Amino acid sequence: MSKQWWKESVVYQVYPRSFNDSNGDGIGDIKGITEKLDYLQELGIDVVWLSPVYQSPNDDNGYDISDYRDIMSEFGTMEEWEEMLDGMHVRGIKLLMDLVVNHSSDEHTWFLESRKSKDNEYRDYYIWRPGKDGKAPNNWASFFSGSAWQNDEETGEYYLHLFSKKQPDLNWENPKVRSEIHDVVRFWIDKGVDGFRLDAIDVISKTEGLPDAKVVNDDQYQWGGEYFFNGPRMMEFLKELDDEVFSKHDLMTVAETSSADIDRGIALTNEQDGVVNMLFHFEHMDLTSGPGGKWDQKDWELADLKRVMTKWQNDLEGKGWNSLYMENHDQPRSVSVFGNDKEYRVKSAKMLATWLHMMQGTPYIYQGQELGMTNVRFGSIEDYRDVEIHNMYKEQVLEKEVDPVTVMEKIYKKGRDNARTPMQWDASENAGFTTGDPWIKVNPNYKEINAEEALKDPASIFYHYKKLIELRKKHDVIVYGSYKLILEDHSEIYAYTRTLNDETLLVISNFSDKTPLFELPEDIGFSSKELLISNYEVGEEDIKGFKLKPYESRVYRLT
Ligand code: NOJ
Repeated sequence: MSKQWWKESVVYQVYPRSFNDSNGDGIGDIKGITEKLDYLQELGIDVVWLSPVYQSPNDDNGYDISDYRDIMSEFGTMEEWEEMLDGMHVRGIKLLMDLVVNHSSDEHTWFLESRKSKDNEYRDYYIWRPGKDGKAPNNWASFFSGSAWQNDEETGEYYLHLFSKKQPDLNWENPKVRSEIHDVVRFWIDKGVDGFRLDAIDVISKTEGLPDAKVVNDDQYQWGGEYFFNGPRMMEFLKELDDEVFSKHDLMTVAETSSADIDRGIALTNEQDGVVNMLFHFEHMDLTSGPGGKWDQKDWELADLKRVMTKWQNDLEGKGWNSLYMENHDQPRSVSVFGNDKEYRVKSAKMLATWLHMMQGTPYIYQGQELGMTNVRFGSIEDYRDVEIHNMYKEQVLEKEVDPVTVMEKIYKKGRDNARTPMQWDASENAGFTTGDPWIKVNPNYKEINAEEALKDPASIFYHYKKLIELRKKHDVIVYGSYKLILEDHSEIYAYTRTLNDETLLVISNFSDKTPLFELPEDIGFSSKELLISNYEVGEEDIKGFKLKPYESRVYRLT
């Protein structure tokens, strides 16, 4: 396996709107990020993935871009962005920008032109079709509820939007569109960025003819994934982007692919003819979703988590490379879902961190995860900001007349605003995020959970992450070792080993509030053991068999 800096790195994701507000307008901004670079350096991360900061009308908080070469006015100026980048580079931190090119904003000049007339030179930058019998061109549902098509008065035709109606899909079939996108990427490379996260990149190629989706229920719109996920030309388009742009630079690239299976993961990331360095698959995130998607919710099972993680660990080994993540701006807080955000919040957050960071892949920390920030329960739908939440709420409550209490429970479990409440810096008003009115309310637990407290407490989750990052720099086995699941059928313990040459890491995690017995499999031999990290005090005990405390985790280095 080749050694690469992006395999040895730890990434920290900044969601700028919620990170730090420097000017008191209630919205996080670029200067606010610059102010916190020392904090990030203290944590020890190597790379920042910055969610979109481009000019945007903010229908989807920047994932709807109206100018790919300008900074969002609410966030600051290009000069401030350049200062931020310099500040990162001085501290040895690299920057990944978010590349959102499956769609633009409907306020991008390309779209404003495109909608003007059927023969406008930009018409073919987007996917326009006439209606069928007075209805949309096909029955596809949008990711954000309702139809994936919007009728446009100007020409009477419909445009495709897999996300919100203010996010029209770009037409990648058009070579001009692809070359515009290449130019945008070059623009940011010339400015000195170190890589890109490719948003929703597995939906850029749609099946010719845009066939109707199979009807599986009596909903008006149906899930058309089979006609736009991993479409026929997706790999070709990405290969072209790689050949024309990425491959000419030393970049880190990560593809967001919610539909990826192992084969797709290998095709995307293998070092011979892959097109990106690593991917975000969603299989572990989807363990809390039923067949109807994220709002069709179910509880996750440890056996499934083992199965999914182990499959990706084993089957990608030597063939591709993965990202390791449990949170981002689209997911609920991991300690609330996979840990215990009450009595064992600190213990379980550390356990989850250890369990994830010891696997093979590049770990990602989402802002606030290093503090053990939790999900939130706002009293009213009015307190929520996310377009996905509001569209779902309207469809369920207003159109389908589902009980609002049931719908709010779904939002509490999986709504994206769980991750988007302001970063909790200290115990002052609004968690030190802003001196103004925050664009979204802070989580009321900020007096207890905040960075200032964490930095004062040597036993905090923050310092646990810092230690995990330090360990990664010291022990190659953490980056390059082979994974093996042990105690496969244990219902509370998730344990595995990582092996490189004659060194073995033994990673033991208790996913429960019980005290299960750990029994070391007999084939794991060693002559000396060193405890690398734990979340409880551990004495010099025999590790052949011992009882774990609630949410306990330990990592031993065996030689
Ligand atoms: C994935 C992003 O992470 C999400 O926040 C966004 O809404 C969609 N793609 C559309 O850009």
